[in-house]
Amino acid sequence: MGIRIKGSGRYVPEKILTNDDLERMVDTSDEWIVSRTGIRERHLAAEGETTSDMAAKAAQKALENAGITADALDLILVSTVTPDHIFPSTAALVQRKIGAPKCPCFDQEAACSGLLYAFNTAYGLMASPLGYKRVLVIGAEKMSSLVDWTDRSTCVLFGDAAAAFVLENDGNPETKDFYVAGEIGADGEWADILCVPAGGSACPASHRSVDEKLHFLKMGGPKTFHMAVLAMTNACRAVLAKSGVSKDDIAWAVPHQANRRIIDAVAERLDMHDKVYLNVDRYGNTSSASIGICLDELNQSGRLKQGDLVLAASFGAGLTWASMLIRW
Ligand code: UT7
Repeated sequence: MGIRIKGSGRYVPEKILTNDDLERMVDTSDEWIVSRTGIRERHLAAEGETTSDMAAKAAQKALENAGITADALDLILVSTVTPDHIFPSTAALVQRKIGAPKCPCFDQEAACSGLLYAFNTAYGLMASPLGYKRVLVIGAEKMSSLVDWTDRSTCVLFGDAAAAFVLENDGNPETKDFYVAGEIGADGEWADILCVPAGGSACPASHRSVDEKLHFLKMGGPKTFHMAVLAMTNACRAVLAKSGVSKDDIAWAVPHQANRRIIDAVAERLDMHDKVYLNVDRYGNTSSASIGICLDELNQSGRLKQGDLVLAASFGAGLTWASMLIRW
């Protein structure tokens, strides 16, 4: 078909919160955070800076990198668990901010697996009778808006960021698609181990919901860790089997950056340590922006060459998981 990743871009807010800063906020230590998670610092959105602001900045960079202007877009898809509002969609706000008149847009939510889910959705829509030619796919999160800054078991883990990609169908049957193989999955039986209890229809905002801190993220850490290792390993194996590609032919393995120990455990099971890209130390867990930030860092630093095979894998609330083999 000729569907390629034509450009990428990222936006990371300026403000940095270090482990030392966190030591002054909750009962934790740099030693605990680094040894249990690999995280050294994370970036936080400025006061008043929203998910759509970050998404629009990443989008501008992806458009520049692709060499196209926003008016050429046929669709905008934003993956986020931290939308500016319940509605309108964050994608609609991005459309307005980047000036992409009339193009359809919507948000997609699969938590930390969201960007890979969104790539699957975009690719499917481009290959469908709708025949979109240029699609902007964004993973953007203001996780700091969901974090209880008094809960040491979660506040050390997350950060804010956005990453964006322009997919383009050049209509040339000789061009190989970026999409080689994919696997997405979910198991709603585990929906409760990672959730934000209030703010939706199950528990609309009330004095009680605020008093009980139900608008903040709650997580069963150890169980999530265990499920993450299993699901990401299995999803990677499934994609390698589907594609018939040997792991030796993979240029980069790009896992969701939630915890260095999860990444190491998956890499060990797949025997792929030497291929793994890591930046969790600098950003923490940026949910659906995480894999996108990695891909853009690799792209902009010239470490991704056209035709390179990249194995990406993710895991998140839902529970959801996803893996994708990408040809750059
Ligand atoms: O994006 C996908 C979703 N999220 C994830 O993938 C996260 C998955 N889970 C994890 O990464 C890990 O479970 C955590 C990093 C969250 C926690 O690490 P752990 O090794 O599973 O620790 P734990 O929850 O079993 O806690 C061990 C101890 C506890 O103390 P006690 O009960 O043994 O006395 C905690 O209270 O560590 C304590 N603890 C802390 N101590 C210092 C928990 N958080 C902290 C902290 N600083 N920040």
